[in-house]
Amino acid sequence: MSDTHPATTTRPMPLPTARGEVSGALVDALVHEPGGATLPGGATLPGGRPLRAADPYGDDLQLALYVCYELHYQGFSGVDDAWEWDPELLRTRQALERRFLDALRSDATTHDDPDAAVSGLLVEPADGTGVSHFLRDEGELWQMREYIAHRSLYQLKEADPHVWVLPRLRGRAKAAMAAVEYDEFGAGHGDRVHAELFAALMADLGLDPMYNHYLDATSARMLAVVNMMSLLGLHRALRGALVGHFATVEITSSPASDRLAQALRRLGAGEAAVFFYTEHVEADAVHEQVVRHGVIDDLLKHEPGLAADVAFGVDATVFLEDRFADEILDTWRKGRSSLRVPL
Ligand SMILES: [Fe+2]
Ligand SMILES: [Fe+2]
Repeated sequence: MSDTHPATTTRPMPLPTARGEVSGALVDALVHEPGGATLPGGATLPGGRPLRAADPYGDDLQLALYVCYELHYQGFSGVDDAWEWDPELLRTRQALERRFLDALRSDATTHDDPDAAVSGLLVEPADGTGVSHFLRDEGELWQMREYIAHRSLYQLKEADPHVWVLPRLRGRAKAAMAAVEYDEFGAGHGDRVHAELFAALMADLGLDPMYNHYLDATSARMLAVVNMMSLLGLHRALRGALVGHFATVEITSSPASDRLAQALRRLGAGEAAVFFYTEHVEADAVHEQVVRHGVIDDLLKHEPGLAADVAFGVDATVFLEDRFADEILDTWRKGRSSLRVPL
């Protein structure tokens, strides 16, 4: 892999296939130029009853939200860049976000104390039953490839939305957050950017490493995981939750990465594939400490009022990741593909 042609940014993908009335109205509107409420051919941005009635965790709402957020990352081919800051689009995005955030606040919140929330992450049950345990012990190659295809929605934008928190931090918290992000972005080397390492893993497994290639294939539960990090990253008011979310990722990554490296070795994957996870075993053991003590402790020293939101960021991450894991394991146990479009 060269420094000049990163696998993840070759070109933006076309808009995804709609999954209902809300995402359908959105993708129909985005092919036009932005410009107020009336668009050519009677296209209108989603709103009203369909939006209010959509399941906040369902395919239709989660895909619509993903499409709105993607305008802030790489965008879509054939979609005018000006949509990113179109006021009508932002109004739609806000309505989608409120449905999602309200649902998360009521369903995921289990702690109001960040120490208690983080402590729960530090102890791994001896008889773990997560996806990484399954893949290490009995997963087959097709299941590993499906897992990686789902995960690519997240990992090919690894660490991107977390950067948005930097202007909202000061002093030690900012320095510690930037230090972790520096590692995530390859510590000065384009071919070591973690998203690029993940693209190499995908290529090794015969998957297409193109950014957003598996958007149509992945489930609402994976989209919700990615949408949560975009939501927390984009809103200054949610900076505490963003930091709690990031700590959860770093704390749980090291042992899970070790299991996934073992799984890939057992399945005969190449060195590039194994390397993504072995790199995370050591790096994230360090990142965990830096995020907990450098970022969270310092942020709460200066803004103690954010404590409950830090805990919410932990709880929401665990809640959404568990829902994703339950779904993928459930479909595999039934002998079915976990993807909407099997590989
Ligand atoms: Fe990473
Ligand atoms: Fe990390």
